[in-house]
Amino acid sequence: MEQTTVFNPIDLGAGLTLKNRFVLTPLDMQLSRENGQVTQRDLAFHRSRSRDVGLDIIGSAYVDLAGNTALHSVAVDTDETIPGLIQLAQTIHQNQTKAVLQLVHAGRATNKGATQGQTIIGPSSIAAPFAGFPVPETLSDRAISKVMNHFIDAAHRAEKAGFDGVELHGANSFLLQQFVSPASNDRTDKYGGTLVRRLRFPVELVTRLTALIKSFHHDFALGYRLSPEELIADGMSLADTLALAKVLDDCGITYLSLSLRNYAQTSATMPTIQTEIVTLFKQVVHCPIMVAGGIKTSENVVDAGLRSALVGVGSALIKDPNWLKKVRNELNVD
Ligand SMILES: Cc1cc2nc3c(=O)[nH]c(=O)nc-3n(C[C@H](O)[C@H](O)[C@H](O)COP(=O)(O)O)c2cc1C
Repeated sequence: MEQTTVFNPIDLGAGLTLKNRFVLTPLDMQLSRENGQVTQRDLAFHRSRSRDVGLDIIGSAYVDLAGNTALHSVAVDTDETIPGLIQLAQTIHQNQTKAVLQLVHAGRATNKGATQGQTIIGPSSIAAPFAGFPVPETLSDRAISKVMNHFIDAAHRAEKAGFDGVELHGANSFLLQQFVSPASNDRTDKYGGTLVRRLRFPVELVTRLTALIKSFHHDFALGYRLSPEELIADGMSLADTLALAKVLDDCGITYLSLSLRNYAQTSATMPTIQTEIVTLFKQVVHCPIMVAGGIKTSENVVDAGLRSALVGVGSALIKDPNWLKKVRNELNVD
């Protein structure tokens, strides 16, 4: 039955053969210790929430303390984090569920409480247009390559910890998005100005990660999550992110994840375009796409499963670890 194929296994390549097409979306539940070490509460959350999904993505693991998004997020910034991350990956694997670690650098979208006093940095010295965000220090060329190294080291640690892959957090206004957006990037060097230059940071990073993954000599997935457009003046446009998605796909990412308010939404900045955002991205990439946002009922599940390869669920599974079982019963799936 086509409507319930979302419960069937799927092979995404790069070692990601999933028992079904459901994904626990990346969720920063802030259950870790103040130094980012994994706790029993992290393990309990993922033990119960990964049980029925094919893939569990751990949300917002910071690659450097200066890029932490919130206190008590999980860390992957030092080798000392590896033992806790091993436990987390093993806990998820015990459910025959694949485990991916989402890597984040907050850039300007954080505060000195979260970074524990570390200097806040960004592509340019432009503060986020919301109350309470500081003016970041502009990254020098050297500092840019240091930040990239933090991502590379973090991916290496995720691999050592037994994760099946990493996902770059290029959404929700964090550092990668700040490079792409003209509202946060007014650099005049090779990382700013034209669209090609604004895309350079994420594209270079993905290229370096792809090379790192080759050196592992075993399967390891690389996902990328993006927000399709910014709702601020002169913000990143849908055309910008469609171009980014195409380049990332050409670079060989395993999957693309769209961070949406609603899985079936159309553009908020270009209301004349009535085509759903997920359809626009399907037209430019070959890799599987994950949608998320507002999937709360059996109808939503079927509907989202017809639109994209991966169906991401956050809030419904936070509220009720048995939610997917109930959906299965409602749809009469064995
Ligand atoms: C508590 C909470 C924490 C979240 N943390 C992250 C995160 O770390 N990384 C991320 O990409 N999205 C994060 N999100 C967004 C979710 O992954 C998801 O896209 C969003 O909640 C919409 O899906 P839903 O309607 O099923 O909740 C978070 C959402 C919630 C509610």
